[in-house]
Amino acid sequence: MAFDIDMIKKVYANMAERVDKARELVGRPLTLSEKILYSHLWDGTPSQAFTRGKDYVDFAPDRVACQDATAQMALLQFMHAGKPKVAVPTTVHCDHLIQAKVGADKDLKRAKEQSNEVFDFLSSVSNKYGIGFWKPGAGIIHQVVLENYAFPGGMMIGTDSHTVNAGGLGMLAIGVGGADAVDVMSGMAWELKFPKLIGVKLTGKLSGWTAPKDVILKVAGILTVKGGTGAIVEYFGEGAEAMSCTGKGTICNMGAEVGATTSTFGYDDSMDRYLRATNRADVADEAAKMADYLTADKEVYANPETYFDQVIEINLSELEPHLNGPFTPDLATPISKMREEAEKNDWPLNIQVGLIGSCTNSSYEDISRSVSIAKQADEKKLKPKAKFTITPGSEQVRYTIERDGFIDTFDKIGATVFANACGPCIGMWDREGSEKQERNTIVHSFNRNFSKRADGNPNTLAFVGSPELVTALAIAGDLGFNPMTDKLINENGEEVMLDEPSGWELPEKGFAVEDAGYQAPAKDGSDVEVVVKEDSERLQLLAPFQPWDGENIMGAKLLIKAFGKCTTDHISMAGPWLRFRGHLDNISNNMLIGGVNAYNMETNKVKNQLTGEYGEVPAVAREYKAAGVPSIVVGDHNYGEGSSREHAAMEPRHLGVRVVLVKSFARIHETNLKKQGMLALTFANEADYDKIQENDTFNFIDLEEFAPDRQITIEVIHDDGSKDTVLANHSYNDGQIAWFKAGSALNLIAAASRK
Ligand code: F3S
Repeated sequence: MAFDIDMIKKVYANMAERVDKARELVGRPLTLSEKILYSHLWDGTPSQAFTRGKDYVDFAPDRVACQDATAQMALLQFMHAGKPKVAVPTTVHCDHLIQAKVGADKDLKRAKEQSNEVFDFLSSVSNKYGIGFWKPGAGIIHQVVLENYAFPGGMMIGTDSHTVNAGGLGMLAIGVGGADAVDVMSGMAWELKFPKLIGVKLTGKLSGWTAPKDVILKVAGILTVKGGTGAIVEYFGEGAEAMSCTGKGTICNMGAEVGATTSTFGYDDSMDRYLRATNRADVADEAAKMADYLTADKEVYANPETYFDQVIEINLSELEPHLNGPFTPDLATPISKMREEAEKNDWPLNIQVGLIGSCTNSSYEDISRSVSIAKQADEKKLKPKAKFTITPGSEQVRYTIERDGFIDTFDKIGATVFANACGPCIGMWDREGSEKQERNTIVHSFNRNFSKRADGNPNTLAFVGSPELVTALAIAGDLGFNPMTDKLINENGEEVMLDEPSGWELPEKGFAVEDAGYQAPAKDGSDVEVVVKEDSERLQLLAPFQPWDGENIMGAKLLIKAFGKCTTDHISMAGPWLRFRGHLDNISNNMLIGGVNAYNMETNKVKNQLTGEYGEVPAVAREYKAAGVPSIVVGDHNYGEGSSREHAAMEPRHLGVRVVLVKSFARIHETNLKKQGMLALTFANEADYDKIQENDTFNFIDLEEFAPDRQITIEVIHDDGSKDTVLANHSYNDGQIAWFKAGSALNLIAAASRK
């Protein structure tokens, strides 16, 4: 399954020279994050120092990973690049489309029936283009990546926000949208604003009931859900070194919950042990040779305030187990204060379900510590009060914990083992009775706990904790239970206490697995046929967008003037629409249905200028398109903020919108529009937004001279025949103008591939 040792050797071969050069240019010792960033520049050896939080820089990541929900559109687009193979090692993981209901076997069977065509498509396209394919049931993307592909000092991107999990093995791993993944798979550079750096110094040592999870729960409480935005969080100190590699993975994983670009740890013995335990002694040997380059320069950790933009210090010896929630992962409560907080806030104390696992906490160590608590329930005659479920992170972990008897122990407390997949962590949990929407409390070891995230019930209060604490709480059935001080009454009426959890960092007998669920791609995929049914409602092969005809856009009709906030969720809603992620025409029926029409302050109700009638936004857009009339979207500030989902740019392009004209853009969405061959413009004078009327027609009268830094003049013709002239700015460079001319960035890559 083939991590690519030659690729890793190549990264290390370049690293020393690039890091040394960067240190000279920057003129001071370097953090680990800087070393990895500067050794992955698209242009190779650094020639300048970059300003954190300011400069946009092109990088060359080593790997790409995609999960099944986001991979669909990414791979449909990649097919257009005209490349015989992906340019960098890439894997696809089937984990999001598997619903948890009764247990692993039945649930997996049902998922394969329900999403068969999506899995077949992903399998065939992976086979064709040299992509490693992890079948449904093989495991959750981030656990599988940590076990097989992550390596110290590497840089990867993945189409999932928790890609950051690979920081546990000393990588810079960053979650991106599908469009970015397509760029890298196609051999293009990947752009990122040079991040700011937050240093977290861990002193002391974890012990007793406190786990790595509590470190990140504490950090989330300090930084809040926005505190890490635009920054890499780098952990260091004796506490970090004493922690397992998978524990580090848990901390990095939930860096996504503080909005961080990513998180990482310097190379140490725990990483060496983990690499060797997961059959990668050759990577461990190579990393050992590079040890000095795989951590920060000594001066940095000795004087962190000088080198990081912000420093946080946590003493692990004093850290208490935490529970974070409900409804937000940064509401951090030490377990000793939980009863008081719950009573004060009227949170139901009665726990209905405890769930462990997910990509965040499903390592062998996590499960062994949890099982040490579950075992005590049997030994001490405690009947668990709440239901209990486990979602192993990979088949390798599941197989090994079964071999070591852990699943038998969980069985004794009536636990349900779900498939090795996301399941309840992403709302794919068909929880009995959740449709009644009763107010209730659950505890889990996942990462997110937003409303409806687990079971779709907005009245489920979810609290996040370590697997061992979740297990103890499920046994107690009481949110206020503090296992360090409180007693429980057993079946004999006796008072008993739970002993501290214990476990193994790595399996004593080594990991084992019969069938890891990996499918290697064909050596030569040229004859492999990609499977997409003609009448599929979930998948649709993409047709290339039309190139620009070189003429001014004339007679464009206003589709919608969006009022106020218009995020990518307003432009392309999630929820039930996720089903159509691989079908551009079907998912386009959600285009801008969340945007507020500035003329009637309603959503999804806009005027069709051809008929004078009001209709739904996608329907009106389709009518303009059918009539051969171009359309335009006008918006307010920070248009397209939110996620990097490329559907928000592809849908308007598909439905005939030619121009998006706004007061300001969220940068990623602006780039996505450019990549799809759209014209993304901003009002030169913001007040001109107010001049746009409901029945306006737009002529872009000097588009033929489209050039960098040259404003575009728009004639706005009003209903009464009067006219305003509006000037628009744009941020296209020459390369991006070439995308516009070609119809999309991918058209341009495809044309180059054909040459
Ligand atoms: Fe899946 Fe939840 Fe992780 S959705 S990738 S288990 S955050």
